[in-house]
Amino acid sequence: MAKVLKFAVLSFCAAFIASKITFGAENSTGAQKFFKDEDLTLTGVYYYPEHWEESQWDRDLRNIKSLGFEFVHMAEFAWYFLEPEEGKYDFKWLDKAVALAKKNDLKIVLCTSTATPPAWLVRKYPEVLRKEFNARYDHGARQHCSNSSQKYKEISLKMINALVERYGNDTAVIGWQIDNEPFARPNEISEEARKRFQDFLEKKYGYISKLNDAWGARFWGQMYNDFSQIGFYSHNPHQYLDMMRFAGTETAEFLDIQAEAIKSKSKNQWVTTNFVPTISAPAIGRCKNLDFTSYTRYMIPGYEGLGEKGFRLGSAFSISYANDFFRPLSNGVYGVMELQPGQVNWGYINPIPMPGAVRLWLWSVWSGGSKFICTYRYREPIYGSEQYHYGVVGPDGITTTRGGSEFSKFISENAQLRKRYNPSAQKVPQSYASRRAALLYSAENEWELSKSKQSNRWNTEQHWRGYYEILKSFGAPVDIVSGEADLSKYRFVIAPAYIMMDETLVKKLRAYAENGGNLIFSIRSGYMDNNGRLYEKPFGGLLYDLTGAKRLEEFDMLPGQKYNRINAFGKTFEWGVWAEIFTPSENTEVWGRYADDFYAGKAAVLHRKLGKGSVTYVGAQSKHFALEREVLKKVYSIAGVNVLDLPQGVVLEYRDGFGILLNYSDKTFDASSIIGNGNIIIGSNKLSTADVTIWDSFDN
Ligand code: GAL
Repeated sequence: MAKVLKFAVLSFCAAFIASKITFGAENSTGAQKFFKDEDLTLTGVYYYPEHWEESQWDRDLRNIKSLGFEFVHMAEFAWYFLEPEEGKYDFKWLDKAVALAKKNDLKIVLCTSTATPPAWLVRKYPEVLRKEFNARYDHGARQHCSNSSQKYKEISLKMINALVERYGNDTAVIGWQIDNEPFARPNEISEEARKRFQDFLEKKYGYISKLNDAWGARFWGQMYNDFSQIGFYSHNPHQYLDMMRFAGTETAEFLDIQAEAIKSKSKNQWVTTNFVPTISAPAIGRCKNLDFTSYTRYMIPGYEGLGEKGFRLGSAFSISYANDFFRPLSNGVYGVMELQPGQVNWGYINPIPMPGAVRLWLWSVWSGGSKFICTYRYREPIYGSEQYHYGVVGPDGITTTRGGSEFSKFISENAQLRKRYNPSAQKVPQSYASRRAALLYSAENEWELSKSKQSNRWNTEQHWRGYYEILKSFGAPVDIVSGEADLSKYRFVIAPAYIMMDETLVKKLRAYAENGGNLIFSIRSGYMDNNGRLYEKPFGGLLYDLTGAKRLEEFDMLPGQKYNRINAFGKTFEWGVWAEIFTPSENTEVWGRYADDFYAGKAAVLHRKLGKGSVTYVGAQSKHFALEREVLKKVYSIAGVNVLDLPQGVVLEYRDGFGILLNYSDKTFDASSIIGNGNIIIGSNKLSTADVTIWDSFDN
């Protein structure tokens, strides 16, 4: 996907990600052992020795150290230099770079460089190239090889084995990044991929009749006699879901075999990859062999942000959303592999980040609990496809950029906090912990909704974002988790537009509420089974019992910019995107009613007690999510939990005994009432735009 497009899709969300978030549960339990709590976070930088004169390496690494960095990230796109001819390895240059890093007291993260195969490989084995309808791939690009190619996997593993034999026991090498920003490729159409897709389906369904049922193949007479008849082009929405699942599985398998190879030969080195929210989505959650996940984040494509200068800062919740998504995937351990130190070269426009922005982003990553933060890249490239991309130093290789200095500042501030780190201090205040919420997420729902929007005003990302931002403005810690997660630690669970559900999940959610949880659904939840087929019930009928609906009578959407009204809590709210018109069961409270048209007076928001907890269904998307905000406030208040009302763009988090506030808004924020008697270590009670304040000894 073109970079610009990639950014457009992921601008807000870390999140439209993982299908089943069962990511490496067992493997990740132990991932904490790779990091020391008292380090809080480690900071590193990408260095490509192969791009520069060997005589400059020592100078560069020395400077990296003197700027405060603790590790260097190397050999990412270096396959050609590691294996210039098939089977002839050359590690001399990397040995030297590794030795110089050690000499300068830097740790090292190595990569498997499978994103950029050498020319000899694709010329000798052209069948490894990706094939897509309407797209051609060849040497000179990156990620132009197919995840379904067995030949490609075989040759990759040979190179990786040789690399790990060389560095797998080096104590200075702390970890490995597999490939680069691995993504799923649902458009791949090679014969090899097709055959593997057929095998995947046969394994999943066993009998072709089952697949015909799951895919609703009676429609348009799409019936198959045999798995071998299945291809990739189709208008069948149920097939689309399986194609996405298959693409994710192929990518995950490619990552897993690499991770396995590294782990079989290495000692005490972690293995991760740098996922991109969205394009990696189908693969995340399917990998079994990674120790934990890391992600990449680019903040300013020249739009988004608050106020006139917001385009220089980016969205307040872009990083926090990624933190909240990736952290729960591997039991709290995650890192950020790429965070820009300045302008990039691939946005629609590439403005200068506001002075202080890079530091603000660093603290945003930190605030979520990251174990490391690495920046792309040390030197600004003077040739190749990424000219104009900023580095920690400029094109002369020696002048520190503004972003480079902000990295340095962050590193010394983190060192200041390390000194104050107290392992026995309370990690977060009780008031904050009591607001903890889970947002239930499944990428599969996102794929489904992308195919069945029904209204051009529908935007799944925006819908999600609406709920997420309300929770963050309450000062609530949020985990983004799948339906398979243990929900018992959350007092509040919100399932926005959770369209595909099965009985097992409904049962689990019922038990959650009965045991005291507060469950909130939004529009379009529970309509379909996991194949994307509507239930053979009254519309939305799967959830009636749980939500206290007697019937979802109809659903509506309005044209253009038109809005109708809902009366709730003594106020009037507007809606235009989607509305569900309910008849409630007896004993179900109605918190909001439609005010217009032929269904004026009908129910829009349902609420009921269930066991020790409650279930709420918000049946409309309102303008600016104003109704949703009031509903969530009320649910929190009934549960006896106080919430904050943080202004737009102000983010509050706690980790490891420290409180942190980040100001992405265009106004000064007075934090006195939040910090109270806390002891400010960095910043002050008054946060201007891009300011960060950190304190410890917080009030409860
Ligand atoms: C990332 C990619 C890096 C580099 C960077 C430039 O998405 O992983 O290799 O291209 O963008 O901003």
